[in-house]
Amino acid sequence: MQNKINQLRSKKEEALLGGGQKRIDSQHSKGKLTARERIELLLDEGSMEEFGMLVTHRTYDFGMEEQIFYGDGVITAFGTIYNRLVYVYAQDFTVFGGSLSETHAEKICKLMDLAMRNGAPVIGLNDSGGARIQEGVRSLAGYADIFYRNVRASGVIPQISAIMGPCAGGAVYSPAITDFIIMVEHSSYMFVTGPNVVKTVTNEEISSESLGGAHTHASKSGVTQLTAANDYECIQSVKKLLTYLPQNCEVTPEAIHYELADETLLGIESIIPESAMQPYDIKHIIEKIIDVDSFFEIHEEYAENIVVGFARLAGKSIGIVANQPMVLAGCLDVNASKKAARFVRTCDCFNIPLLVLEDVPGFLPGSDQEWNGIISNGAKLLYAFSEATVPRITLITRKAYGGAYDVMNSKHIGSDFNYAWPSAEIAVMGAKGATEIIFKKEIDSANDPAQALLDKEKEYAEKFANPYHAAARGFIDEVIEPSQTRIKLIKAFSSLQNKVDNLPRKKHGNIPL
Ligand code: HXC
Repeated sequence: MQNKINQLRSKKEEALLGGGQKRIDSQHSKGKLTARERIELLLDEGSMEEFGMLVTHRTYDFGMEEQIFYGDGVITAFGTIYNRLVYVYAQDFTVFGGSLSETHAEKICKLMDLAMRNGAPVIGLNDSGGARIQEGVRSLAGYADIFYRNVRASGVIPQISAIMGPCAGGAVYSPAITDFIIMVEHSSYMFVTGPNVVKTVTNEEISSESLGGAHTHASKSGVTQLTAANDYECIQSVKKLLTYLPQNCEVTPEAIHYELADETLLGIESIIPESAMQPYDIKHIIEKIIDVDSFFEIHEEYAENIVVGFARLAGKSIGIVANQPMVLAGCLDVNASKKAARFVRTCDCFNIPLLVLEDVPGFLPGSDQEWNGIISNGAKLLYAFSEATVPRITLITRKAYGGAYDVMNSKHIGSDFNYAWPSAEIAVMGAKGATEIIFKKEIDSANDPAQALLDKEKEYAEKFANPYHAAARGFIDEVIEPSQTRIKLIKAFSSLQNKVDNLPRKKHGNIPL
């Protein structure tokens, strides 16, 4: 027996070395951790339980029978993060460049099936040269098996993808279907076709970094939600992100114990400028309202005119969607609508209540916006809010104009509580624009048109540039003093914690994608 145990030990020791020390050194020389080091950093100490360690490929072409590495380029394991069960796979670049073979794919599929059956998140650490070239269509089939599972698991368990090396070709579509993608700066890239193909087909010369590096996807394409400076930071971000999410769609995220104290927010009103034309940073308001240092921003560099992210309020996880007056005056445009709609749906499928902070002058006008489909993209946000069944609260800090008022989680589309500060202006449009349209004749024929415009503007502002018209109709539940915001929100969310709201029976809705 001892001989057999020794044989097992020697096989496992060989597996621990992946593609061998030389390739491990090469991985380190690029500033990257190995797959095994990444998993160990991710999981609670001593909690990693690897399975499929002795799996090998089944390829006998191109001399592959001479190159057998245990694990076949991917490590699959379960373990815990802050004592919560997770399933994790990490592609091992030291084995055939982490390329995906039939057996490599089978390991990932087995892991995903287990995660689904046991209602636990899946975390994929990607670092791969793509399809195992020696295997042809068997590799492509393996990818499709994974994509299919990604889709089936979507909305059931959280799926997080970390891109920590190459991720190219069709391989990008597994991360693309998951809930969150985080990329490591300078050592990872994602693209469907790389710089060489781009040069051949379009004659454009572009580096991998600019075509599909972390910054590109965070700010230009919006494909990724988070970036990290290095592997270590990436793993820490994944762990933090997970703390805001539940294990699966049947439960709520774990709350941190919180004792109510004096929740008065002194001085918060001074953030809003006297003039409605002046910008201010909505993140200053977010920071004051939520639990200290609990804001975890998502999609920070993309469509900065809207801010989305997770936070805690009295220890409970919430999702925040907030117009940002600092950028494009907080207008809704194509990208902001897509960004916010995606976030709203992410929160809704994982039972995370939504808080909307509204200061929106309307949709961004222009041919660029119209031609890029502001109609169907704006509709995505309207749709996402309308179908969300989680507790939903809106606070209007200043402007709530036009169609954007309806879209930003208004009472009319199912919000549970709508609050406004006394500084709120809820109207079809700003006073100046409105006056110029409805009093045009009177102003033009006045002895002093400039003064007439000012008078009419004042009249309009007094009537509509406030929250009281909306409050009188019940469209606003309460006009609150800014200092009371935190306690009001804590109490309101607490009252909604057992909310039940079911959508009409259907196969699925048809969101304007
Ligand atoms: C098999 C691969 C491989 C692959 C890399 N290797 N990619 N083996 N299939 N796809 C092996 C190399 O032979 C090498 O083996 C080791 O991995 C490391 O690769 P290097 O080239 O030495 O590393 P590096 O210089 O860092 O370059 C990494 C790379 C490059 C940029 C990823 O290897 C590369 O371009 N690979 C091919 C990428 C590709 O075209 N993949 C298919 C895309 S199409 P040794 O033995 O020397 O260590 C696709 C379709 C998916 O993925 C479709 C899904 C629907």
